Amino acid sequence: MAADGPPLAASQALAPPGPVPRHVAIIMDGNGRWARDRGQPRVFGHRRGAEAVRRTVTAAAELGIEFLTLFAFSSENWRRPAAEVGELMGLLRLYLLKEIAELHANRVRVKVIGDRAALPTDIVTLIEGAETRTAANTGLTLSIALSYGARAELANATRQIVADVLAGRLAADAVDDQAIAARLSTAYMPDPDLIIRTSGEQRLSNFLLWQAAYTEFVFLDGHWPDFERADLERALDAFRLRDRRYGASVG
Ligand code: IPE
Ligand code: IPE
Ligand code: MG
Repeated sequence: MAADGPPLAASQALAPPGPVPRHVAIIMDGNGRWARDRGQPRVFGHRRGAEAVRRTVTAAAELGIEFLTLFAFSSENWRRPAAEVGELMGLLRLYLLKEIAELHANRVRVKVIGDRAALPTDIVTLIEGAETRTAANTGLTLSIALSYGARAELANATRQIVADVLAGRLAADAVDDQAIAARLSTAYMPDPDLIIRTSGEQRLSNFLLWQAAYTEFVFLDGHWPDFERADLERALDAFRLRDRRYGASVG
């Protein structure tokens, strides 16, 4: 360590060499099972899950991650019983009301991706307020995926491309990877380097299908409400040991 460099935190000193991923996305799964294991209603798990969100955002910023994207509610989660959807919307409302001031003080830029038209209007107002208030922040970019589905996102991008082609703004043969990526809700950030999913399931569940073309995956058995900074650090350690080849040959 250079004499004039900043002191290394213990975790950084022990971590294997290699880059910190710029963009980490997390499929926060297992709230219901966590609650069931404790004989509690599912909402109990969702409440504890919100606390894990708080810890994780702080840890991600401290660990030098630039973009953190959290899958909080999928377009398919609307199929859950109305009471559970109501509880989740209530928690979301509370999060937006209570956390934004502190996120803003910590220079976090808050963004929300997903189908806003499906959300209650007061939540849309809170989202717009949070995004506007934090827009110029230069710390961690926290993107919350709400009522998000990757297939709907791709269909939406396709509709925009068709409209642009029909209006003469875009040549049909200019439709390439970049033209599509630029019309996705994630256009403001790089593709995720790492996707973490808790709770043992090894699937994307309609999350970032396009953006995950070369993403590394870490699947954890623990449920989301138990997720700690140490779990994030271990996932980053696993990521550092991966050999990302993007289709090139080895050696
Ligand atoms: C994740 O936990 C939270 C949401 C999907 C909203 P789950 O509610 O999916 O919990 P499990 O998977 O049923 O245990
Ligand atoms: C994915 O979890 C969505 C979120 C974590 C918000 P689900 O629990 O909805 O996914 P499936 O149904 O197990 O695939
Ligand atoms: Mg689940």
